[in-house]
Amino acid sequence: MGRKVQHSLLTKAKKNKNDEFYTQLSDIESELKHYKNHFKDKVVYCNCDDPRISNFFEYFASNFKELGLKKLIASCYREQKNDLFNTEKNENGFFFEYSGTEEEKKKPNSNDIIHFKGDGDFRSYESIELLKQSDIVVTNPPFSLFREFVAQLVKYDKKFLIIGNINAITYKEIFKLIKGNDAWLGINLGRGISGFIVPEHYELYGTETKIDSLGNKIISPNNCLWLTNLDNSKRHQDITLTKKYFGNENDYPKYDNYDGINVNKTKDIPLDYKGFMGVPITFLHKFNPEQFEIIKFRKGNNEKDLSINGKCPYFRILIKNKRIQTEFIELTEKQESQQVTKAIRNLGISDNQQVYASK
Ligand SMILES: C[S@@+](CC[C@H](N)C(=O)[O-])C[C@H]1O[C@@H](n2cnc3c(N)ncnc32)[C@H](O)[C@@H]1O
Repeated sequence: MGRKVQHSLLTKAKKNKNDEFYTQLSDIESELKHYKNHFKDKVVYCNCDDPRISNFFEYFASNFKELGLKKLIASCYREQKNDLFNTEKNENGFFFEYSGTEEEKKKPNSNDIIHFKGDGDFRSYESIELLKQSDIVVTNPPFSLFREFVAQLVKYDKKFLIIGNINAITYKEIFKLIKGNDAWLGINLGRGISGFIVPEHYELYGTETKIDSLGNKIISPNNCLWLTNLDNSKRHQDITLTKKYFGNENDYPKYDNYDGINVNKTKDIPLDYKGFMGVPITFLHKFNPEQFEIIKFRKGNNEKDLSINGKCPYFRILIKNKRIQTEFIELTEKQESQQVTKAIRNLGISDNQQVYASK
């Protein structure tokens, strides 16, 4: 019950543009520790972050020297609500820059921030001007604008490390980046991201929520990921394969509408199969582009969802093993030819006819 409510809360957050999930410092630290070598002499921009409260800002300001940063910028959006009931002047968006000198404050207050002329939307010209000066964008952007957010980073050719919903993998624009090796998953995913601070007015349900030692309300939706184009060690580690296709063919049914086999769990990817394999999307968390090639997402040859005997398993990513070892290639070829021979025998055709037929 609790879990369902939280998922629906997150879905609602997505739909209603109610994007107020704030990232915890501990989650930022446990991801960022894997990228320390990327930040030397770089300008980091947190473009969905109030520098007075953002833990992204806090992380980079506190680790400024250790990372060797050149500059840190954080900017904050302020929605402009003007309607019949709200005629008061809105506060504009604002930003703060930190260069790591002794005189500067690591924790700015309202007197230190600089107001934009506009709302500080990450798509506004003022925010884009700051983006152009930056090298790496690190933040948790609004869930509802994730596609646009990533498209802008790609357009301005920026490095990034951002939090999104696991579903983002299934967006065609995002999958295209992953397939093309222009983006990949970070280290932590799902439960690896412990939870988000939500505003006071959020109601907490069930066991996946808590109040932390500072009195913050924390919600743990368990369906978020880090998306990045900064290299990390994990994407160079092979998935250890132990299972075999030949001899266990029944465990790997073929798709009706694609020449490939279905694999239900990443750990069950067979080491001796050189053709196409459909794997669950969680495979991407272990994906090493030197080991596997991503071919396609979800659809078979007829552009309908991949199916087995008319039924569609969950979304699958079609992959191919790039590094099937030579010993296995020889073995698979021998086994395939044995299978063909067996099938032909079953049809009652003799070996001689078979040779004749193949000529
Ligand atoms: C998921 S919250 C994360 C906040 C902060 N980055 C963090 O991780 O703690 C997304 C933030 O984006 C802000 N936001 C919403 N729409 C925005 C926009 N168009 N441009 C920039 N920021 C926006 C929201 O006000 C909210 O603070």
